[in-house]
Amino acid sequence: MIKIEAIVRPESLDAVVEALGTLGHAGLNITDVRGHGRQKGMKELFRGREYENRFIPKIKIEVVVKDGVAEQAIDAVTAAARTGQIGDGKIFVSEVRDAIRVRTGERGDAAL
Ligand SMILES: Nc1ncnc2c1ncn2[C@@H]1O[C@H](COP(=O)(O)OP(=O)(O)O)[C@@H](O)[C@H]1O
Ligand SMILES: [Mg+2]
Repeated sequence: MIKIEAIVRPESLDAVVEALGTLGHAGLNITDVRGHGRQKGMKELFRGREYENRFIPKIKIEVVVKDGVAEQAIDAVTAAARTGQIGDGKIFVSEVRDAIRVRTGERGDAAL
């Protein structure tokens, strides 16, 4: 299993979730976050104006998927979140050792 953590512009949330939905993902989490990338939040436009805060609001979408759909999911998220402008975000990919559905005790892919 692969965990995809995508930190993207808040306005791209719907497009990203829709793109993941077409791949048939099951659960996911979203979190409001604030952060900065290489530009340290200085030069980035947020909702049409240059943002003065060092930490710019983003949304983190976290989804764990089966190995076989991970690359498709990464491509889908990338395409949905890209505007080509500074601040489009970043995706972190990591391996997940196990998953457990608490209700049934199912593990691994069956628990997703
Ligand atoms: N190395 C990192 N570790 C953790 N979060 C990061 C990292 N780089 C970027 N982020 C998060 O991703 C958001 C978007 O980054 P972005 O400005 O698009 O990246 P960059 O400027 O490096 O291309 C940041 O606001 C921050 O929340
Ligand atoms: Mg940046």
